Amino acid sequence: MCGIVGYIGPRQAYPIIITGLKRQEYRGYDSTGIAIMNPHLTVYKKKGKVAELENTLLGENLKSNIGIGHTRWATHGEPSDRNAHPHLSASGKLAMIHNGIIENYAQLKTELLNKGYTFKSDTDTEVLLNFIEEIKTNTQCSLEEAVRIALKRVSGAYVILLLDEENPDTIVAARKGSPLVIGIGKGEHFLGSDATPMLEYTKEVVYVNDYEVAIIKADELILKNLGNERQTPYITKLDMELAAIEKGGYDHFMLKEIFEQPQTIYDCLRGRLDAEKGTITMSGIQKYAEQIMNANRIIMVACGTSWHAGLVAEYIFEELCRINVEVEYASEFRYRNPVINKGDVIIAISQSGETADTLVAIENAKKQGAIILGVVNVVGSSISRVSDGGAYTHAGPEIGVASTKAFTAQLAVLTMIALKIGYEKGTLDKDRYMRLLDELNSVPDKVKVVLEQQERIKALAEKYKDASDALFLGRGYNFPVALEGALKLKEISYIHAEGYPAAEMKHGPIALVDENLPVVFVATKDSYHEKVISNMQEIKARKGKVIAVITEGDEHSTSLADDVIEVPEADEIVAPMLSVIPLQLLSYYVGVAKGYDVDKPRNLAKSVTVE
Ligand code: F6R
Repeated sequence: MCGIVGYIGPRQAYPIIITGLKRQEYRGYDSTGIAIMNPHLTVYKKKGKVAELENTLLGENLKSNIGIGHTRWATHGEPSDRNAHPHLSASGKLAMIHNGIIENYAQLKTELLNKGYTFKSDTDTEVLLNFIEEIKTNTQCSLEEAVRIALKRVSGAYVILLLDEENPDTIVAARKGSPLVIGIGKGEHFLGSDATPMLEYTKEVVYVNDYEVAIIKADELILKNLGNERQTPYITKLDMELAAIEKGGYDHFMLKEIFEQPQTIYDCLRGRLDAEKGTITMSGIQKYAEQIMNANRIIMVACGTSWHAGLVAEYIFEELCRINVEVEYASEFRYRNPVINKGDVIIAISQSGETADTLVAIENAKKQGAIILGVVNVVGSSISRVSDGGAYTHAGPEIGVASTKAFTAQLAVLTMIALKIGYEKGTLDKDRYMRLLDELNSVPDKVKVVLEQQERIKALAEKYKDASDALFLGRGYNFPVALEGALKLKEISYIHAEGYPAAEMKHGPIALVDENLPVVFVATKDSYHEKVISNMQEIKARKGKVIAVITEGDEHSTSLADDVIEVPEADEIVAPMLSVIPLQLLSYYVGVAKGYDVDKPRNLAKSVTVE
């Protein structure tokens, strides 16, 4: 978590850094800070969002052609002015920002305390910074060398950016585990946790690798490994436009991203699925098709919303491919010494491609001989690079902290993989395969129809916004959708919500049901429908308030529910891509009605690069 930005070149650094930080706020927004050379090393930092620091700095002389900036998601030390980054070293000559966690910071801190150091913050960052300074002073070496020596002693994850009063024309950066992108301009360089701070300036970027140190001047970029060997920067062309990261007239990124879904699902299918020819072309999957078909099991590894996508995919893969699927929370999987056999196929699902638990889980599994396929949104991200193959979701930048369009794009990709493998394996017959290709192809248009109910869902949000709890229920393919609906409501509106398999409700949660409890049923017509109807009746018999997401024209459900939201008829395999949309809109509008910052819910960050 945390966003980092840097600039060096002929332009003014401050506006580039502030704009870049605003674009990186999805990574955390507890506190903000910048360091510039004006002409001496100067740090400004403050608890709160980027705009708050910006307001404080109005009228200041911030002229500098070099600078670094940070937006924080607190790990060590509460959000406060003094824990905000950048930190200054004991001598005041070095400033550093950091994204990640230094796991052995306590040990390093003890060593420094014994040498007489004192600390102004509670952060692991200040410890690492002073550790670097101590090496630099003691050995009379350059900053870059001190960084290399220090990082050999460090365990944990980091991206660090340093400014040095004694070398005012250089930024030194290093990474392990957390992302670092360097944009190459003409006589200038840009740095970011992702490419968004540099979009209007350059399309040429370098994704720095783990254990690399970058020495960056306006007209020179040197990459070295920790052994001081020069590395060749690999320049990648960015395929992202500025418009993609702006709100485009919507009140919030979350709403924009919900409404982008007809296009993002279409983009995800485009060039891959040809319903007329009956083909699915996915080169990153084709290469491993034999192994997937013959796999004893597929393990989906993910966190949060991406984990919910994995759960839907479990149902789809088992149905269409007859392969045993397990869906794992990456955070549990990585630590519990799982049995991984050679030939097991791991599918890592991640929007950001940087989630620390998912990343380490696949690194571990890879060492044990598993094949790793990534279903990832962010091109060039760490998970995509560790993966052997896979497919990008092509949903474009997702900036709202709550995941929406990434989820439906993940479902589209996973469904395509299952269809392809099932058909090639012979567990899916041609008729059903062709029908499902048509079904998948028609999803973008059907999503448009669901989105037309925006005003109705807004009215329902007003009606239910004061509930203190909510239950989300669904069966089969819609059970993970219920989990996702509950997660969305929790994170955006802070209403306590739980998702359950509808039948499981009888084994405990039904005790919560009374006339004040909204129960959201995801009850589109599928093989489980009659059973779900019975569950709905059980809730009604206990006076619960039923809000049901149903298939158009389902009069029986309409007669039972207090409120309904209709979605177009669709095969149950693709139905989650439709039934989740009203739940996304419902949580959005409840959050807005309650006056919350839906794009930046409290305590959350978009990219969880700490475990
Ligand atoms: C929920 C949400 C999170 C993420 C989770 C995994 O709205 O956004 O639960 O889904 O942190 O992130 P990725 O997909 O980037 O690995």
